[in-house]
Amino acid sequence: MARTRNAVATREAPPARRSRKGPVTKTPEGISPSTQPELWTGPDRHLLDLDHVSTQEITEILRSTDGMKEVLSRRVRKTPALRGKTIVTLFFEASTRTRVSFEQAGKVLGADVINVTASASSVTKGESLLNTVRTLESMHVDVLVIRHPHSGAPYFVASHIDAPVVNAGDGTHAHPTQALLDLYTIESHLGGVAGKKIAIIGDLLYSRVARSNLWGLTKMGANVVVYGPPTLMPPELDNAEGLDGVVRAASMEEAVDEADVVMMLRIQRERQAAGHLPSMREYSRVYGLNARRLKLAKPGALVMHPGPMNEGIEISPDVAHGAQAVIEEQVANGVAVRMAVLYMLAARGASGR
Ligand code: NCD
Repeated sequence: MARTRNAVATREAPPARRSRKGPVTKTPEGISPSTQPELWTGPDRHLLDLDHVSTQEITEILRSTDGMKEVLSRRVRKTPALRGKTIVTLFFEASTRTRVSFEQAGKVLGADVINVTASASSVTKGESLLNTVRTLESMHVDVLVIRHPHSGAPYFVASHIDAPVVNAGDGTHAHPTQALLDLYTIESHLGGVAGKKIAIIGDLLYSRVARSNLWGLTKMGANVVVYGPPTLMPPELDNAEGLDGVVRAASMEEAVDEADVVMMLRIQRERQAAGHLPSMREYSRVYGLNARRLKLAKPGALVMHPGPMNEGIEISPDVAHGAQAVIEEQVANGVAVRMAVLYMLAARGASGR
């Protein structure tokens, strides 16, 4: 999807691939062998988006997530798998669920987790992103989790430090762990995404969640249908290379019709330049998901939303909290998916040191 990426992010080419990699053979205490990331042999040590992650690697992360869910279901939710490792979350944007989710994931695995928020860091004294990251690295960080308002910032960071980098959301570009937890949630209900109709509705232009999901879902064989206001649809979607299986619907009804999953996106008001929408009321009337529209989907179709929701705008409260909504499950699965990702990256880093 070169065109989509270029259109949303002016960034350097992905960082040069480094040699510190290789299958992980150790079996850390507390995690069953089935969760071992032995198949994670892809060339990227970082998780920056899903475009560079193979279907085999995605499958491996999802299987590892099963094991992590088992850990989370124990009475004592703690394993020493990453004991002695340090994970830093560096957030330059407001966040509740994603930051807490990474923190919890790291702590359940026994790592030390240090949270740095831009507003309370030397960034407010004018320190550059590069210097902030170099300072952290000199303190021996094993995995750096970064969220940044500028598309591409995690790629820049990854090209300048040794530690594996996880992109926790960069501008309008990517949010790979959200896409992985969405895949996991769908799979846990429907057995997989291949051949399923997944409708993604709303503000696709500004949605990093949608972009990463388009990669993940199409790679795994889903039929993705997108719909939203013409002013909020990325024009490059039509000819994007590598995004086979993405279709633009002509109406909300067409998008939802016989869908297996309806994924609603938040209106990203904080990112929007003025003038994209006439009014929120109008948006809700034309593009909102309500019970009447949901009836067009397959019986029992899943309703998803990455959160935070604007209830009453993109989704009506009865649907958001109804029997078909799996929105809270998405949050819960987020911890397990992030455990799998952190474990794979931290264990891999260790294997080469
Ligand atoms: C998303 C994000 O921050 O990109 N939320 C999240 O990670 N839970 C989606 C959004 O902000 O709408």
